[in-house]
Amino acid sequence: MKEINVGLIGFGTIGTGVVHIFQQNADVMEQRLGARLNLKKIADLDVITDRGVTLDPSILTTDANEILHDPEIDMVIELVGGYEPARTFVMEAISQGKHIITANKALLALHGDEILAASEEKGVSVMFEAAVAGGIPVISPIKENLCANRFRTVLGILNGTCNYILTRMSQEGDDFADVLKDAQEAGFAEADPTFDIEGVDTAHKLAILTSLCFGTKVDFDSIYTEGISRLSSLDLQFARQFGYEIKLLAIGKIGYGKVEARVHPTMIPISHPLAEVHGVFNAVRLLGDFVGPVMLHGQGAGMEPTASAVMGDVMSVARDILHGSPLRTPAMGCSQKNFEDLPVRPME
Ligand code: HSE
Repeated sequence: MKEINVGLIGFGTIGTGVVHIFQQNADVMEQRLGARLNLKKIADLDVITDRGVTLDPSILTTDANEILHDPEIDMVIELVGGYEPARTFVMEAISQGKHIITANKALLALHGDEILAASEEKGVSVMFEAAVAGGIPVISPIKENLCANRFRTVLGILNGTCNYILTRMSQEGDDFADVLKDAQEAGFAEADPTFDIEGVDTAHKLAILTSLCFGTKVDFDSIYTEGISRLSSLDLQFARQFGYEIKLLAIGKIGYGKVEARVHPTMIPISHPLAEVHGVFNAVRLLGDFVGPVMLHGQGAGMEPTASAVMGDVMSVARDILHGSPLRTPAMGCSQKNFEDLPVRPME
């Protein structure tokens, strides 16, 4: 049976989830693929900590070059997070002709254009389903199932940590700092949780979505970004009394010839489906000109849902390798040139 070799760089929370799937679902993946996926090497600076998984110690290394320069490795899963050294690893892997699977929204929001251009030139795929909304399939529906639509809006609750905090503050009256601590312990929050609570993580994800939906360049700096750190549980409870939930909302719209992108706490009427997204769940609501509104909903952070998205990409790339399909990277959205200047109603 054909074997496809995979290297993993970054053995943290999501990396551990990826190893769980390799170990527990090898049989279903092999059946569906008609080939074996082999996790050949794992690189991390810390190869000592017990992650609760049994591994042949010879596959662990502290040197990412053992993956990047191994000619037998077909694809690299990058789960280091942040800008550097993740960018260097990804660019090097591409230059070595390896396909990339990444969950790194920060990297894509700031260096996506450079990475995608390099991958197109080299003819390899860059897949990033896990970078937006954890386990919810969002990237592939936009790129594939819905790609005959012109998108009008994309709205999202895109940060599990914030939504978890806001839900507890609204429903239990809990204190912001206590709930943030719980979210960190549960493994939802970023290494630097200010990225979560100040809206930066949500803006990274919105930059990716607007680029895919509207065909614009990934332009993180132009996104107005305001987080949730100044909200109190009293604000949330008052809002509820008036019939609203406060959510950290990512808003991408096209209208009057330009793309508007912003992230801020938003009062959402409780009758709106986005107001019913609670806890670590995320949701993305897309409005396409033919399909109408589509809402995708599921767990937006955490080890297992995010690892599921990573491994879905691994399977897609493996299928491409096996069947010689064209690369999946390009076309960050369609051109917006032909959009009519249609104003969009609030909350559509
Ligand atoms: N810190 C992120 C969140 C992780 O809470 O949503 C998933 O991207």
